[in-house]
Amino acid sequence: MSRIDTLIARMTLPEKLGQLTMTASSYTVTGPVIAGDSTQSIIDGTIGNLLNMVGPGPVHEMQRLAVEKSRLGIPLLIGLDIIHGHRTLFPIPLAEAGIFDEDLWERTAREAAREGAADGLAMTFAPMLDVSRDPRWGRTAEGPGEDSWLNARIAQAKVRGFQGNDLSSPEAMAACAKHFVAYGAVTAGREYAAVDISDRTLHEVYLPGFAAAVRAGVATLMPAFTDLNGVPMTAHIPLLRDWLRVEMGFDGVIVTDYNAIAELIKHGVAADLVDAAVLALKAGVDIDMMADAYRKGLPVALEQGRVTMEEIDTSVRRVLRLKEELGLFDDPYRRGTTQEPAALIAERHTLAREVARKSIVMLKNERDTLPLPTAAKSLCVIGPLADAHTEMKGPWWGAGEHEPAVSVLAGLRAALPQTDIRHAPGVAINSDDESGIEAAVALCDGVDAVLLCLGERASMSGEAASRATPALPGRQQALAEAVIARARALGIPVIAILFSGRPLVVPWLSEHADALLAAWFLGVEAGNAIADVLTGHASPSGRTPMSWPRVIGQIPIFFGQRPSGRPMNPADYYTSKYHDVDNTPLYDFGHGLTYGRFCYDELRVEPQRVREQDTLKISVNLRNDGAREAEETVFLFTRAKVSPVTRPLLELKGYAKLRLKPGEAGSVELSLPATDLRYLGPDLQPVFEAGQVEILVGPSAEQTGLLRQTIELS
Ligand code: BGC
Repeated sequence: MSRIDTLIARMTLPEKLGQLTMTASSYTVTGPVIAGDSTQSIIDGTIGNLLNMVGPGPVHEMQRLAVEKSRLGIPLLIGLDIIHGHRTLFPIPLAEAGIFDEDLWERTAREAAREGAADGLAMTFAPMLDVSRDPRWGRTAEGPGEDSWLNARIAQAKVRGFQGNDLSSPEAMAACAKHFVAYGAVTAGREYAAVDISDRTLHEVYLPGFAAAVRAGVATLMPAFTDLNGVPMTAHIPLLRDWLRVEMGFDGVIVTDYNAIAELIKHGVAADLVDAAVLALKAGVDIDMMADAYRKGLPVALEQGRVTMEEIDTSVRRVLRLKEELGLFDDPYRRGTTQEPAALIAERHTLAREVARKSIVMLKNERDTLPLPTAAKSLCVIGPLADAHTEMKGPWWGAGEHEPAVSVLAGLRAALPQTDIRHAPGVAINSDDESGIEAAVALCDGVDAVLLCLGERASMSGEAASRATPALPGRQQALAEAVIARARALGIPVIAILFSGRPLVVPWLSEHADALLAAWFLGVEAGNAIADVLTGHASPSGRTPMSWPRVIGQIPIFFGQRPSGRPMNPADYYTSKYHDVDNTPLYDFGHGLTYGRFCYDELRVEPQRVREQDTLKISVNLRNDGAREAEETVFLFTRAKVSPVTRPLLELKGYAKLRLKPGEAGSVELSLPATDLRYLGPDLQPVFEAGQVEILVGPSAEQTGLLRQTIELS
């Protein structure tokens, strides 16, 4: 018999349910505190998994109780959310999505896993794979943005990064694909609200990221808090069991979200904890995080004959197998035994700075306002986010709460020691007080450029942070108006730097600032990375992974919309449009300027007649007509012209990058397997249909900037 079967044969029911329970903990000076429980439960074997415990000291102390004091000595599985770095905080996932760089996506996860593992942890609740097309939803910050193809690429890179090739490595952690599924489609962008979407949207937009994570070997998965078309995800048999377990063959651990089994009662599908526990177990949920529904409910359900011991054993087996794969049985203390050397941490900061720099999206740069002139003698840095080092860390700082982070002001002062850099916050983020505006405006006199650092507080995005008006909070608009008016009068350029966990609705600022950067939340190296770009030390290269709306009423706005039978035509009254605003976004998906100026020509596609087994070779010429070296990201989209079901106006299928010096020309090559031109037919099964497909290549999803060619599938 295997170690696991031997153990299961010896386990009592409470010990089995302990393995299916995950309890939150926190470590205080007086000792570990376990919510509603005590460390005695670890010794009794009735808690098998913990979350929210950090540091090799406390982790090993708890592990010792489990391994040395409990009857069966089964090690604990200890997990923590590592959403954008553990101690060394990287840019938020939304920002990182815009770097379009699989190697870097993987490396930040790898480094975060090494740091987390050095803290004794074996599991993380990441990556977050919720496509979001609604900037009102605060968790947009934690995810990949609006596109499902991009999400799938990120999913694979992140799973590889966290888990590596060998889960038992002392530097690897079990990843968790979350939140399964369609959480990003909550009604009206309101956190935890119901989700109601079509099967087509589910399969085309929301499931591919999870399918990619499963194919990459993700060890665990977390159902979303939300319901989907009337069935809460924690009890969703068709998706958790039939799709995930059976169709996708996922045999890893399903861990609930925080208290989600108990919330089945509030959803109105369970009368009590017993009901709720039965629903979750039947759906294939293995670990109950924080609801205590399995320990309380399953003994009753078992007695009533509503669940079987085999069903419980199946889940216990999965949990024990994961612990075995993580190497916890062989050496429960393998993670967190050696302290990371300072040089390694310094290297990680270099990576954090590189990724932060590459995440910055230059939305606008009129008359080459940026980079700042090297001759600039004085600058004025205004706004509540100019000297806000803590905010730079973003909404999910993991164990990095007390790590230092670099503000814009500090970054600029370090980069430009000879420059006179003045600063005033002007207003606070969340206050109606305008009394500081005058002093801030007065500081602008005589400077070479004004930098306006505006946006959200980090805690305004992330979980439970929906905003009905995702615009500049407080009196920042008034500050911007006053500063820009004064700067205009003085002929001084204004560069606005926006911090946010989502695209913000900022049409006025976008029109009136000379340059506009989306700096999201860039992590511990934020200020240095921003200074790198402002000074021209690096050309910006980030691309927005979400469309920026002009007004809130356009939400949800995304490039993958399906066509209308009456496409927008300003000359025709009865067409698909608004009376008060254009249909297009303020900034399209993929938009992001560089310090170069790239011209595209000669799109070539081979072959022109395509069979399913072919691979398309697509190439395009680029020339940098700008005055600076820069890297361009080139996007590949397709559009099926005629098919039995309506297809999106654009489907992202690839990207490539090219760095060119001023005046230099080159070309990028993309290859597209024809199998990627399959789509879900009327019965949602993939089909390869004969007919015409347009191949579109260009710098963003903005339709007029794309080169196109039509090919024939046969
Ligand atoms: C969040 C999850 C997270 C969990 C554990 C929940 O509130 O929705 O994303 O993994 O807490 O911290």
